[in-house]
Amino acid sequence: MPITLAFDVYGTLIDTHDVVATLQEMVGDKAEEFSRTWRDKQLEYSFRRGLMQNYENFAVCTSNALDYTCIYHKAPLNKEQKNKLLGAYRVLPPFKDVKEGLARLKAANYHLYAFSNGSADAVEMLLSTAGIRDFFLGIVSVDDVKSYKPNPGVYSYFLRRSGASGGSAWLISSNPFDVIGAISTGMKAAWVQRSPEAIFDPWGIEPTMTVSSLCDLSEQIARYQLTDEN
Ligand code: 2OP
Repeated sequence: MPITLAFDVYGTLIDTHDVVATLQEMVGDKAEEFSRTWRDKQLEYSFRRGLMQNYENFAVCTSNALDYTCIYHKAPLNKEQKNKLLGAYRVLPPFKDVKEGLARLKAANYHLYAFSNGSADAVEMLLSTAGIRDFFLGIVSVDDVKSYKPNPGVYSYFLRRSGASGGSAWLISSNPFDVIGAISTGMKAAWVQRSPEAIFDPWGIEPTMTVSSLCDLSEQIARYQLTDEN
């Protein structure tokens, strides 16, 4: 049975914090904090839309969250500036360890998919611009089921689409809510903790494994599978 890996996109493969450079031109010293509020609100809006069953695609969550963040930080950006930021969000770079990590996994014959809250079109563009699209067999978007992570239905949808079973499918994510969501649905999950300061939610549901770089993943999963089979 091949091992299937579902890669979270925003914040795991792609560095959403890269917008800080563009933000600095617009909000100066507030750029770091502005970027964090924007990202937190974007996720909050996706959770709430999922719960309310009032789905709009992830780009709408991103745009609404940007409007909120401008009000919260008293930074009244004009339409042109907002469009520039939303444009920057569509072409973000990968984290430094991503290309090497994916190349090692591909060479070891894992089946790699991108699995995201983002629409298939947005993810296609993001991965292509980042130069990593060809590592993936496919892109699975929650947009098809009109809900968001961590709704268990979106992880089940991933398994159906990829033809994998829970026991042989791993979610790879830097987002603790995503890791907990996947494990709760019966998948295995690796938490990518790039910074020692990143906190995993203390819910008593632990990641199957934690890695500090995608470059370690191929070897660590192979080791885990051997131990698991014994
Ligand atoms: C993604 O699905 C959760 O932002 C994250 O790509």
